Amino acid sequence: MSKYDRKRIARLFDNMTDTKSTKGEQTAGSDEDIPRVASRVAFEQLELTGEDVLLDVGTGTGDMAIAAARTCRQVIGIDVSKRSLEQARIKAEQENLDNVIFVYGAFEEPCAELDLTLYCITKILAVYSLHHLPDQLKKESLITLSNLLHRPGRMVIGDIMFFEDPDKFREEFDKMHYDAGYTDFPSSVEYLTECLEQVGAKVHVKQIHPLVGVIIADFA
Ligand SMILES: C[S@@+](CC[C@H](N)C(=O)[O-])C[C@H]1O[C@@H](n2cnc3c(N)ncnc32)[C@H](O)[C@@H]1O
Repeated sequence: MSKYDRKRIARLFDNMTDTKSTKGEQTAGSDEDIPRVASRVAFEQLELTGEDVLLDVGTGTGDMAIAAARTCRQVIGIDVSKRSLEQARIKAEQENLDNVIFVYGAFEEPCAELDLTLYCITKILAVYSLHHLPDQLKKESLITLSNLLHRPGRMVIGDIMFFEDPDKFREEFDKMHYDAGYTDFPSSVEYLTECLEQVGAKVHVKQIHPLVGVIIADFA
């Protein structure tokens, strides 16, 4: 078990941009893997419309932000990995999308480069990114993010989260892309639900696996 270090995580993902995917490759012919199911379900649960302004936190190389930009009015992707953001900008340019922007920003400091209060953010997405923060920072970040969200608004988190004792599933850590505490600090689903309920959200949870789920938090 190591400590949270934002710069180390940024370096890790900067170096990963050379490989194709930050969530691993899927073997041809295999079933859709669990992290991919979580991404897909999280994306569906956003229920995006042409009126939405989406903030994608920990956007990585921007695949979900770009997919969302095909529907939303505006998409903003933030991340701590500058190389990932560069890749995301290239992809958006290749698709001629002018309603998606990628800027440096962290869960703890979402407005580091861009004043997000100037946007009427209606949806927030975090896929396989929040688990990098330890519990207390997650709680503080969820408060910060909930304050950026317009009402009514929705936040969707698809991530590693513990529904059961993780030790029972040690053999599946790799498949869930969980590094057992090197840069990953997943919380229990109860903790995440409590954090969101404390800031006034109505919370629904979809379990994908005992270690992975999707949380849908509605703010009226
Ligand atoms: C596994 S990737 C997921 C990327 C993307 N959400 C996806 O589903 O393809 C995790 C991303 O979270 C980002 N990340 C880690 N810690 C972060 C933080 N404190 N604030 C913002 N992004 C962070 C990493 O840089 C990385 O790009």
